[in-house]
Amino acid sequence: TYIIAEPCVDVLDKACIDECPVDCIYEGNRMLYIHPDECVDCGACEPVCPVEAIFYEDDVPEEWDGYTKANYDFFDELGSPGGASKIGKIEKDDPFVAGQPPEPS
Ligand code: F3S
Ligand code: F3S
Repeated sequence: TYIIAEPCVDVLDKACIDECPVDCIYEGNRMLYIHPDECVDCGACEPVCPVEAIFYEDDVPEEWDGYTKANYDFFDELGSPGGASKIGKIEKDDPFVAGQPPEPS
C-alpha cells in the first residue's frame, strides 16, 4: 500500500483523489488516509501531491513512521467501504493525527 504522511496534515490538497483508479483515498478531518487493503499500489497519487506527502509503504521516512500505523488504524472501525466518494468526509482522525500540533496557516 501507499501511505499519506505528515505534510498532508491541515493541507488536504486532494489532488491525489482524482488520480486514484480505485477510489481508496478517504477524507478525515485533518488529513486523507489511504485504505491499505483497497490500494492496488498503482502509484498514480504519489507524484501529484504538491507537498509530497505520499510514499510507498516501505519508503515512508522514519520520522513519519507513525503515519503508516495511522493509515491502517483509521480503517479499524470502518472496515473496507469499497469506495471513498460514496462515503464522503469522515468526521474523525486517527488519534495520532488528531494529536499533532496545528499547522500554521
Ligand atoms: Fe494530502 Fe497531498 Fe492528497 S496534501 S490530500 S496527500 S494531494
Ligand atoms: Fe490509489 Fe495511490 Fe493506491 S492512486 S491505488 S492510493 S497508490
